[in-house]
Amino acid sequence: MNNPETIAVLDFGGQYTQLIARRVREHSVHSVITGPMVTAEELRALNVAGIILSGGPASVYSDGAPRCRDELFEMNVPILGICYGMQLGCQVLGGDVRSAESREFGRTRLEVTSRDGILAHLPGTTDVWMSHGDIVTSVGGEFVSMARTASCPIAAVRHRTRPFVGVQFHPEVTHTPEGSLIVRNFLFEICGCKGDWRLGDVLEGTIAAIRQRVGPDERVICGLSGGVDSSVTAAMLQRAIGDRLVCVFVDNGLMRLGEVELVETTFRDHFKMELRVARAADRFLSRLDGVADPQEKRRIIGHVFIEVFQEEARRIPNARFLAQGTLYPDVVESGESVGGATAKIKLHHNVGGLPETLGFELIEPLRTLFKDEVRYLGEQLGLPHDLAWRHPFPGPGLAVRIIGPVTCEKLEIVRQADKIVTDEIVAAGWYPKISQAAAVLLPISTVGVMGDERTYQDQYVVAVRFVETTDFMTADWVHADYGMLGRISSRIINEVRQVNRVVYDISSKPPATIEWE
Ligand code: XMP
Repeated sequence: MNNPETIAVLDFGGQYTQLIARRVREHSVHSVITGPMVTAEELRALNVAGIILSGGPASVYSDGAPRCRDELFEMNVPILGICYGMQLGCQVLGGDVRSAESREFGRTRLEVTSRDGILAHLPGTTDVWMSHGDIVTSVGGEFVSMARTASCPIAAVRHRTRPFVGVQFHPEVTHTPEGSLIVRNFLFEICGCKGDWRLGDVLEGTIAAIRQRVGPDERVICGLSGGVDSSVTAAMLQRAIGDRLVCVFVDNGLMRLGEVELVETTFRDHFKMELRVARAADRFLSRLDGVADPQEKRRIIGHVFIEVFQEEARRIPNARFLAQGTLYPDVVESGESVGGATAKIKLHHNVGGLPETLGFELIEPLRTLFKDEVRYLGEQLGLPHDLAWRHPFPGPGLAVRIIGPVTCEKLEIVRQADKIVTDEIVAAGWYPKISQAAAVLLPISTVGVMGDERTYQDQYVVAVRFVETTDFMTADWVHADYGMLGRISSRIINEVRQVNRVVYDISSKPPATIEWE
């Protein structure tokens, strides 16, 4: 069989499903996320060594609750149910699930009563992360209850004769300190995995596949954005096909300070790639003139991007392929993964995407990878560390960091503020602890004093936002160091003319979003 030994994670719509798949890969075992209705045959074709049923928001006893096929329980492949997945497995195998008297959410003390199998090598009591409203209330003689918490008498189970185990808590989150050991137990003690999957093999395999696909006279275009995904895509393609790769970078005038130069020095000077920079700032800015509505800004930027990119691409002879940095989460969220029928949640408003009508065949070398895996590969491919570990930046750039209409003057202000924010968080060692940082220019004037004068006219407010997140669908604001915030504030107020006030955003997502527009 060609597929590596794989753990299939069935997605019941839980917020941590992707995290489960990543945790498995961290133990050098390949994982895929599938829809809940995946068949036993499809799973066998994937070479599954084990199945994990994810958490999810539904109640297993309510109408229309997502289920998996009963045949999976007959495959004689170990199954781990997590939260909803445990409730579903217990229900299918004869247990009883009810609404709990009190919902359990957050860190909870777990008492382990059976320290073997999935809970082998654990201490007698440990903290776990709970997030559920239903519990398994009885399991009958077929199951062994393995752990309990104060309000959940059956917090972990194993079936006596079938290879099913379940945990009511979430071993995949870092708030469960023994979570990694629990995942390990499942992979190695229960599924007997070899743990021989390596990211480097993915790299070699992908490069070989690209070489096979692209003919000796054909060229591949890769749109660079300055971000990690397109940078790693370009570096991989160069490894595969050398100078048959042409990179196109559209300078939309909405980039951060030094961004265009960074792309030029990295790709043209360091990697010696053929890089075409389309300088189109004026075109973007004139089309954005006076536009205040955020979605309208996005729409215009998306359109102009396609126009400019297409003009540039037409000048490249023999270009048959377009390389894109589509990641595994995008593939999962579009419902294209095995077994279909995953919830179609759109991660974000994808600006900078190119329509199929451009007529290129797509090459998507990162389709099976998570972001942090892409970052590691980027380093292996020789990308500078800072580029490989860069925070994400929205496709419409600083246009969505200026609330209201975009002007050259406001772009200059927000660009300088952004640079100060980045420099200070790097200097303070906070950059890796923050998932995304932003400086946002607000369209209001507030009163200030400078010297002996009151200031008001054309004096703006900059909002600083730091978030911490793994999936960007939910995010916490960062409890940042006051000293660092103080330096950022005084530098912005002193160095950026026209800013007399800096505020720090302490809202989480949801209900707030990461960007302000
Ligand atoms: P929100 O603001 O929706 O952002 O919480 C989630 C993530 O998406 C990024 N973002 C965008 N990325 N085009 C993009 O390519 C966009 O229009 C866009 N809007 C938001 C945002 O920076 C964050 O990482």
